[in-house]
Amino acid sequence: MILGIETSCDETAAAVVTWDGEIRSNVVASQAELHARFGGVVPEIASRRHLELVSPVVREALEQAGVALGEVERVAVTQGPGLVGALLVGLAAAKGVAWGWALPLVPVDHLHGHVASLFLQPDPVEPPFLCLLASGGHTLLLDVRGHAAFRVLGATLDDAAGEAFDKGARLLGLGYPGGAAIDRLAREGDAEAFEFPVAAVPGLDFSFSGVKTALLYAVRDLDAAELEARRADLAASYQRAIVRALVERTRAAARRTGAERIAIVGGVAANSALRAALPEAKAAPLALCTDNAAMIASAARYVEPASDPLRLDAYAVA
Ligand code: KG4
Ligand code: ZN
Repeated sequence: MILGIETSCDETAAAVVTWDGEIRSNVVASQAELHARFGGVVPEIASRRHLELVSPVVREALEQAGVALGEVERVAVTQGPGLVGALLVGLAAAKGVAWGWALPLVPVDHLHGHVASLFLQPDPVEPPFLCLLASGGHTLLLDVRGHAAFRVLGATLDDAAGEAFDKGARLLGLGYPGGAAIDRLAREGDAEAFEFPVAAVPGLDFSFSGVKTALLYAVRDLDAAELEARRADLAASYQRAIVRALVERTRAAARRTGAERIAIVGGVAANSALRAALPEAKAAPLALCTDNAAMIASAARYVEPASDPLRLDAYAVA
């Protein structure tokens, strides 16, 4: 039995996962509402909220799993990358539990966690495969060779795909976080109404700053009534441009590496248009796309516990 804790951004999460990848509980307390009026995550507010939530969320995860701390065999925690103040809260909580119960503490890389969302029951994906990791903080193409072994083939040169969704949603007046809101509104719009170009950067990298600027100009050209009337078309066209870029690069990477299987993970993998545009890909289950602790506990099955756990420190950048 593994207890996972995740606090890298604005979700306070804890989960209990078994060694063979069965999710016994997966509790996520989202702070999104708290940050919405600022249009993005405010790090200091996130840290303080994690501090309030981390103990009750861990307790809730154990309770839902019907597991006592005495039955837990290791504690897993996100060490980075993420907001350092937010990470430190989860790390301190995990150190406390591990020390108090004499349990091994396993530091988990958040990106490894997203990949490990695919290794959970009931339908685990076995490496090797090509993985598109698209979230609010990252857009990466990974050559996944083993449960704890992957190589970066491509990355975004500027904004992450989720960041592009969030900034686009803000321009369209859809609030924060905006990915899911664009996804919903786009269903009512015409994806071919606007032509938004996506920069063709060489190799397997991505760039999303241009498409965001294109949306900005399109919005600026409309008066309030026109914007209201065209909002769904703008959302659909903008989403289409981002999805196209993700799909084209992912397929190009698969061709280049000869990968036989493709998988998609991270918050943006919840996008219905992306899932539909890559029918050959194994997509992480919806509940495991956005940040959660089940994926952190899953990754911890393949990582050695820390030899000096109380000295573990958080890191902001991968
Ligand atoms: O993986 P995640 O929870 O956090 C990071 O590690 O960054 O991803 C959050 C990102 C946000 O940018 C959010 O807008 C985006 O995932 N997202 C979506 C959808 N659901 C969440 N983007 C597009 N379509 C969605 N349905
Ligand atoms: Zn994440």
